[in-house]
Amino acid sequence: MITRDINLIIDQLKNGNAVGLPTETVYGLAANAFDVNAIQKIYELKKRPSSNPLIVHIGRKEQLQQLVEKIPTKLERLMDQFWPGPLTVLLPKVEAIPNEVTSGSARVAVRMPNHPLTLDLLNRLPFPLVAPSANLYNRISPTCAQHVEKYFPETYTLDGGACQAGVESTIIAEESNEILVYRWGAIGREDIESITGKVVDKTTSTQKSIAPGMSLKHYSPLCALVVSKEPGFLLSISPEKRIGVIWFNRVKWDGPNVTSFEVLSAQSDLQEAARNLYQAMHRLEEQSVDLIIVERLPEYGLGISMNDRLDRASTK
Ligand code: TXA
Ligand code: MG
Repeated sequence: MITRDINLIIDQLKNGNAVGLPTETVYGLAANAFDVNAIQKIYELKKRPSSNPLIVHIGRKEQLQQLVEKIPTKLERLMDQFWPGPLTVLLPKVEAIPNEVTSGSARVAVRMPNHPLTLDLLNRLPFPLVAPSANLYNRISPTCAQHVEKYFPETYTLDGGACQAGVESTIIAEESNEILVYRWGAIGREDIESITGKVVDKTTSTQKSIAPGMSLKHYSPLCALVVSKEPGFLLSISPEKRIGVIWFNRVKWDGPNVTSFEVLSAQSDLQEAARNLYQAMHRLEEQSVDLIIVERLPEYGLGISMNDRLDRASTK
């Protein structure tokens, strides 16, 4: 159920229900971060394993006092620079945070989303919100209220339009004065390194337990998906009859088995491409193609974040 009534959403949250909420990255499925029953509803709705922890969303920095023990210096500099915005930081949690939020970890993930409606909402609530992306476990992330409706028709979703960034937040931590990156997202490597110097990329780390949500299979459409530097070659040898193709900046190949295609950014603008990627995947999925072929994006900035999502969405 899609609504623009923020008071209705506040009532839902205060009554211990989960709701769909817009953020600048993707839509979240939110609930009271201190209400274990409400948190349980999120896991059930998403069919998400409880071993996969949740990000706590706040509306103002003071709320950190009720969530974390301390804030390391470099992280604080990055938070001051990018909040509100798509940066999630892992911080030592206070006792009071339910274990259901962090899946038993001593660190809690926190971010301040940059969406006017959700910031307003967060600042009117007496508690912070946990919010994973509002998709069923392992499926394509939602970047508009209609996508959330598709997954959770019975849940109220606050309509805040299409997401500006279109890809999830970047997740970082600080250890021994170094910034570690656990998920590349809407803030690119260059943006962080310009402030703190070289970061350590933990996104391909085999330490499975750090960000369990970074499991190999993720962000997937119902049909098969492959990502390729040479979609034209793949197309010429694919036996499927209905293929949807997602190109970065222009169509480079056509064929009788291409039933639909998408171009992410005619200007080769990676931000525009990120904004369009999940939208394009949702549209192709809705057209019931047998296979989606995606052209691999350039390996810098948001291109890295998008390629990561595509590799995880791809059928292995
Ligand atoms: O942009 C975003 O971050 C969106 C919007 C809604 O804010 N949220 C989002 O949540 O992407 P989710 O649950 O789909 O992905 C969060 C990731 C998961 O991979 C999870 O394992 C990791 O963050 N994570 C959450 N809490 C953690 C913790 N305490 N320690 C390590 N990883 C954590
Ligand atoms: Mg997710």
